[in-house]
Amino acid sequence: MMSLKEIPIKQFQTLPSTNDFAVECITQYNQQFGAILALEQTKGRGRRGASWVSNKGELFGSIFYPINLSAESEQWICYLTTLAIVETLTPLLPTNNTIKIKWPNDILVNSCKIGGVLVERITYQQQSFIIIGIGVNILNAPSTDQPTTSIAQCKGMTLQPLELMQRITAQIDEWYTKWQKVGNDILINSINSKLYQLNQSTKIRQGNRHIEGISRGLNHLGELTLQDPDGNIISYNSGITLN
Ligand code: BTN
Repeated sequence: MMSLKEIPIKQFQTLPSTNDFAVECITQYNQQFGAILALEQTKGRGRRGASWVSNKGELFGSIFYPINLSAESEQWICYLTTLAIVETLTPLLPTNNTIKIKWPNDILVNSCKIGGVLVERITYQQQSFIIIGIGVNILNAPSTDQPTTSIAQCKGMTLQPLELMQRITAQIDEWYTKWQKVGNDILINSINSKLYQLNQSTKIRQGNRHIEGISRGLNHLGELTLQDPDGNIISYNSGITLN
């Protein structure tokens, strides 16, 4: 893979959704690589069809590139992106803040959501592409069904969206390199060391099912494991953590 840092970031005032625009770049303009930033989105999307409130001041970005399907999957790319965001935010926030990853794709500071990742995949003319969508609250935090925060609300150092996107991209690049050198274990161990509710009671939702157990972290396949009241460890490869 080429270095993501070298992809110039194209900045737009308003887009419906940077992830949707990435699809357009691939399928209509035949682009192979790209990085997109919008200062505002009118149809920002979160996971599972939820909308992502996208007012001016926050980071809304997407990176896309061709992938080798047998080696690269949405799950690992989502994990390395969450780690890249954690690594980027850590030096910007006062040290009394606790940054965690809520499985599979949320970044929390002091248990409040500061950002999220939406990784999608499309195939166009026999080539698969990954689209990494990144949302980070810089100034304000829209109210949603879960508690939210922003870099400013945590008394952190606020950056312009473009600068923040550049730093996150550089970190994604670094995690990619580590991952390709060392393999999945580095992502699993790093996520587990930052995992929200590790060894605590956790609820996840999988489709219409709500499952509760003690979180035992990611297993060697990158699935979340929960321990049920009988002591059985059950693994989940899809779903989201509930508050
Ligand atoms: C989530 O936590 O549900 C993921 C949110 C991802 C939001 C970002 S903002 C930039 C990109 N474009 C979108 O429409 N969504 C992602």
